[in-house]
Amino acid sequence: MHEDDQSAILDVAELEASIIYRLMSGAIAPRPIAWVSTIDAQGNANLAPFSFFNVASVDPPVLAFSPLLNGQRQAKDTVRNLQDVPECVVHIGGEALVEALNATSATLPPNEDEFLHAGLEKATLGNLKVPRIAAAPIAFGCRVRDIVNFGDRPLSGRLVLAEVVVIHADPSVWDGRHVDPDVLHPVGRMAGADYARVTDRFSLQRPE
Ligand SMILES: Cc1cc2nc3c(=O)[nH]c(=O)nc-3n(C[C@H](O)[C@H](O)[C@H](O)COP(=O)(O)O)c2cc1C
Repeated sequence: MHEDDQSAILDVAELEASIIYRLMSGAIAPRPIAWVSTIDAQGNANLAPFSFFNVASVDPPVLAFSPLLNGQRQAKDTVRNLQDVPECVVHIGGEALVEALNATSATLPPNEDEFLHAGLEKATLGNLKVPRIAAAPIAFGCRVRDIVNFGDRPLSGRLVLAEVVVIHADPSVWDGRHVDPDVLHPVGRMAGADYARVTDRFSLQRPE
């Protein structure tokens, strides 16, 4: 067995959360981005991107994304809204919408409509009360299954498990069998302000 190089071993108990964040967001990359709409109890709409995001289950379809507590240990508006109105729409934006997506990561007062702030039109999705972004080619309409609470320290996650109940899939990107990445132009989040395009793909057959 290979001996560990001791300089490569980091004791998590001795690391600051901000350093763990840097290591995780640099190493676990590129990450897909959930662009999430919610509403508060008064019906004000909110939008925010979350790259701690993936598929948790297919049948039933469940998405997982994790808004962290901020430095003041406060939950993000998305989580507070989901506690009041437990439904959301998770959009996949693509490169054409990435500037608007970034605009919705600004910290705005809770009752300010982030669709207006980013110049995005709303559309309805099924019976959901929460609006979807009209321009987003893919939108998953969800009801909250569970919110897993990882504690009350800054950067603690609130893992949202959102069950998909209705899907908007624009025929320009979805032909009923495949999503066309050359139309969707997916973007991934790297560390800090960096993003990645998917312009250099390759295939690998899985073993029998
Ligand atoms: C591309 C991108 C990905 C992000 N991913 C996350 C994330 O996974 N978790 C998180 O807590 N914040 C993330 N943020 C920051 C939030 O979007 C930001 O705090 C936002 O203001 C939260 O909005 P809300 O308070 O309206 O919910 C991300 C920002 C960007 C630009």
